[in-house]
Amino acid sequence: MSPMAFFNGKFMPVEHARIGVMTHAFNYGTACFEGIRGNWNAEHGQIYVFRLREHYQRLFESCEVLQIELPYKIDELLYYTVELVRRCAYKEDTYIRPIAYKSSQRVGVRLHDLEAGFLIFATPFGPYLDIENGARCCISSWRRIDSGMIPVRAKISGIYVNSALAKTEAHDKGYDEAIFLTHDGHVCEGSGENIFIVKDGRLATPPPEDDILVGITRDTVMTLAKQELGIDTDERTILPEELFTADECFMTGTAAHLTPIIEIDDRKVGHGRVGQITKQLQQLYFDVIFGRNQKYIDWCTPAYVLARKR
Ligand SMILES: Cc1ncc(COP(=O)(O)O)c(C=O)c1O
Repeated sequence: MSPMAFFNGKFMPVEHARIGVMTHAFNYGTACFEGIRGNWNAEHGQIYVFRLREHYQRLFESCEVLQIELPYKIDELLYYTVELVRRCAYKEDTYIRPIAYKSSQRVGVRLHDLEAGFLIFATPFGPYLDIENGARCCISSWRRIDSGMIPVRAKISGIYVNSALAKTEAHDKGYDEAIFLTHDGHVCEGSGENIFIVKDGRLATPPPEDDILVGITRDTVMTLAKQELGIDTDERTILPEELFTADECFMTGTAAHLTPIIEIDDRKVGHGRVGQITKQLQQLYFDVIFGRNQKYIDWCTPAYVLARKR
């Protein structure tokens, strides 16, 4: 199947969904978006869209920051998203990208007096980082944009230039992923992931005040750690040296899932192998997102309702 889009209120092949060169968002980065995964469970003949409502709640918050008023209610967007996945009919893991954007064909940098556009596309999407063997990371020479510059809790397209600089720097130096520090030198997050450390059986992750995007996978993992393993997560400032003394370290994100970090700046994290708590959390996480754990099935929206074989 070719990728499909929902654009200007209609479903169409993705190549028919086009925007003009003068589109405000294209010129100034005045768009916000989500990355949502549809996880293919071959046994169930089903794609489970993970935490769909939470992603749209965050999109609506991002829209408020950018003064984008969408002509849709959240439930309508949930419906259009599932319908898009159903029409794509993929039998593999899928990435879903809704974008709300300033669609006016007008020159002039601002947020006010501009029209809003909205589109969704869906495309097959496998693993982003090496989930099994773990990632080798570097600490980026780029600092994370802080909320006094652009509100980082909002997933705004323009912010991602900061992420792109860090990711390519990491790639060019031979690493898999970058870790941002904040302006104060605290550990922040990856270019597209939140970060956790494990120390003495406890989890810690940077708090929202340290300029992170408050990830939905982060929340998923904290919930599973608490409810299934009885492990609390401290949301607290983490200093860079704690990365080197951690027992284990991992990243979370819709694209990255739960990716172990085995090395940072050429130093081993823990024993330089995927740690035990990371492994346990990974197993729990994958059972949940593929719809194999009934306790958390409400987080999974089945796209192929008729194909459901459970
Ligand atoms: C900068 C950044 N941090 C964290 C995350 C993780 O967020 P989530 O788990 O909601 O995908 C993402 C991905 O969306 C991101 O781009």
